[in-house]
Amino acid sequence: MQFNFYLSKCMTVNENGITILNGNYKRNPQLDVVITIMGEASALAQNLKQVITSPIRFFQTDQKLYIKSEGKQCLGILKIGRKNLFHRDLNGVIKEIQPLCVLDFYVHESVQRKGIGKELFEEMLRQEVLTPEKLAYDRPSPKLLGFLKKYYNLQNYIPQNNNYVIYSQYFDNKQTNVFQQQLTQQTHQQQQNPQLVNQQRIQQQQTPQKMDQLDQMMQQMSLESKQQYSQYQKSKGQPPWATDQKQYQNMYQTTTGLMSAQIHKK
Ligand code: ACO
Repeated sequence: MQFNFYLSKCMTVNENGITILNGNYKRNPQLDVVITIMGEASALAQNLKQVITSPIRFFQTDQKLYIKSEGKQCLGILKIGRKNLFHRDLNGVIKEIQPLCVLDFYVHESVQRKGIGKELFEEMLRQEVLTPEKLAYDRPSPKLLGFLKKYYNLQNYIPQNNNYVIYSQYFDNKQTNVFQQQLTQQTHQQQQNPQLVNQQRIQQQQTPQKMDQLDQMMQQMSLESKQQYSQYQKSKGQPPWATDQKQYQNMYQTTTGLMSAQIHKK
């Protein structure tokens, strides 16, 4: 989705091109436009009667929004939040659980099936320190079901009245926490190759001195880059989007108007 301003001007974008917002993030008009337009496009793509991601429905909640962008383009969004759910198993036994849920997930049509969804999803898993089977999925579309099957081999679940999908592995008590997995890997490595582990220990003991040197270098570099940055700031004029308020308002009204019209039509 193309905007007429750089998305990094209205939100912090990390080194993977992803922005992580929580409900307390400081709102600004451009960010509102991005959330509104992406939320409406997502609803349209999923044939939903109601938009589920909008500034009003996001800010001041405990939800989190992951946004993938590139320059002036927004490529996709992923919204998560914790819910209180009742899950009925095959014997009719009901369990109350509070999983983190995937509430909205959308990649722009022009870049679907190019790995953007996986990038967003993996970033979220890293941040939340979770594995995919420990999440619940709100009315997953066939595309999302295919995605979860393809990358994470998730396919078995008991359909629920509330339409949330919780895979059977959610209830396994096996070690699925990524930290536990890393720990298991380390222990395994230790058992397989005690010599290598000893070498690593010696290297770690030598590290503090090197870290001190590195620290000094980093401080020097950061001082230089700060000076360069402030010179750059002084030399450049106002950012183009700041003077473009009127034009961008028109664009927003036209685009949202068109999308709302399409949603009403459905
Ligand atoms: N048809 C079937 N499967 C698809 C399709 C499609 N049109 N698009 C993606 N997938 C699945 C497939 O498993 C695909 O693998 P394949 O190409 O080898 O068949 C895999 O996803 C591709 O992975 P990515 O490229 O990482 O995924 P993508 O960037 O396309 O993002 C997403 C996946 C978010 C589901 C995207 O396709 C999309 O936005 N779809 C429309 C909106 C939607 O259905 N969102 C989920 C709603 S449910 C919810 O939010 C809880």
